Amino acid sequence: MVKKNTCVFISGRGSNLKNLIIHSRDNSFPIKISLVISNNKKAIGLNYAKKFKIPYIFINTDSKNYEKKILFNLKKYKIKFICLAGYMKIISKNLTKAFQGKIINIHPSLLPKFKGLNTYSRMLKNNEKKGGCTVHFVNERLDGGSTITKKIFFIEKNDDEKILKNKTQILEYKAFPEAIIKIFRNI
Ligand code: GRF
Repeated sequence: MVKKNTCVFISGRGSNLKNLIIHSRDNSFPIKISLVISNNKKAIGLNYAKKFKIPYIFINTDSKNYEKKILFNLKKYKIKFICLAGYMKIISKNLTKAFQGKIINIHPSLLPKFKGLNTYSRMLKNNEKKGGCTVHFVNERLDGGSTITKKIFFIEKNDDEKILKNKTQILEYKAFPEAIIKIFRNI
């Protein structure tokens, strides 16, 4: 099986990146992580790229030519698929056009509920009974593309934001690889 050259975009801790790197080392996993792009110079997740000897680039998304730089590097590394893993920047139209149906994101809620930021505090405020995560295709709308995989947990009475995050991320580490397998299963 030829693995798809994949770029993972991050901004922070990178625990999903780490999880994807570990899965991608399995011969039967459909993607190879060939590049990591971070828009945060200090993202802890960059350490995983270093540790596993994966090329990585910091791109300042506040700079003028950032989009050109991203597209240039995706071409340079022959990237065919993109995973957004805690990337705190909306993907530009040009990028979604160039990679139509080839960008996926993981979001810490049961979409379409709680799009955007601060999902856990909003869920608690709303007295939600269920939390979870969603892996979905990315289009021009924020957290708007079609769903690939969803995983659910029940919110207990004493759950706080920290517990919700913990429960969500445990599910994320299953959902993200499962979604990738699902996408490439039929190709
Ligand atoms: C994840 O919870 C993901 O759902 C959200 O950002 C978080 C990233 O976590 N989009 P990490 O950087 O992978 O640890």
